[in-house]
Amino acid sequence: MKKLSKEEQAPLPSLEVWEDDVLERYPEPAKGKAAFRTYDKATDNPIREFYRLNHTYQTYDNVLAKKAKYLKFEQMEMPWWSAMEYLNTLIDDSDPDTSLDQLQHLLQTAEAIRADGHPDWFVLTGFIHDLGKVLCLFGEPQWNVVGDSFPVGCQFSDKIVFPEFFDENPDSKDERFNTRLGVYTENCGLDHVHMSWGHDEYMYHLTKDYLPEEALYMIRYHSFYSQHRENAYDHLLNAHDHEMFKWVDKFNPYDLYSKSPKAPVLSELKPYYEELIAKYLPPTVKF
Ligand SMILES: [Fe+2]
Ligand SMILES: [Fe+2]
Repeated sequence: MKKLSKEEQAPLPSLEVWEDDVLERYPEPAKGKAAFRTYDKATDNPIREFYRLNHTYQTYDNVLAKKAKYLKFEQMEMPWWSAMEYLNTLIDDSDPDTSLDQLQHLLQTAEAIRADGHPDWFVLTGFIHDLGKVLCLFGEPQWNVVGDSFPVGCQFSDKIVFPEFFDENPDSKDERFNTRLGVYTENCGLDHVHMSWGHDEYMYHLTKDYLPEEALYMIRYHSFYSQHRENAYDHLLNAHDHEMFKWVDKFNPYDLYSKSPKAPVLSELKPYYEELIAKYLPPTVKF
């Protein structure tokens, strides 16, 4: 691929802009008004541009190339807590006063899960689910880190936001990839399906040997909105995936709707979370 310009590397003023957009698309049921946002060309320019780039460049080959690069885990190694602090060096330059830093989002998600009395591995999942965003710190463009995730290697669903931008994706003209099943077979199971590259898939591989399967589904598919909200890929899921997606559904509201007016204090909660990390995860994480 050609060298990316600064605008192609980071079309969004911050990663949070994508998450705010998801929240507008899928508002909290109790508070929700219009479920469908009408996109306004002028004001939604960064979001549109982000999805244009995401949908153009997330190809089957891109996914294989990123897996070959990052699943060797040769970037760096550090204790888990240091990794969480490292993620927090990803500063949003747009609006430092109102934007939540990365750790606050993770802490609020985890604390909301804990307050509802869920098992401790579920709390831990909330706390680390977005750590894969360190990909940005390794120089990956935003569209290779965040955004709704979707299968590559088969037809792109029109239930994915801004489906028209897939016209620019070379895979949509490639006969191997542009049919309903593409390289897959009916109900083959998501474990056989390559998802678009991003923080979800990366984080799954970083944790797959340590967390319960329910947690791994939450991590791996938390941005797969076209499936967990619209069931657009039922033809690829098997019965076990459907069973496990109940956990993805359970997790999603905590990710989207846990912004709390009173920010939890990281220093007070650090001992609890360090203990939780030590219970389930090895001493260091190898990125
Ligand atoms: Fe995420
Ligand atoms: Fe999140």
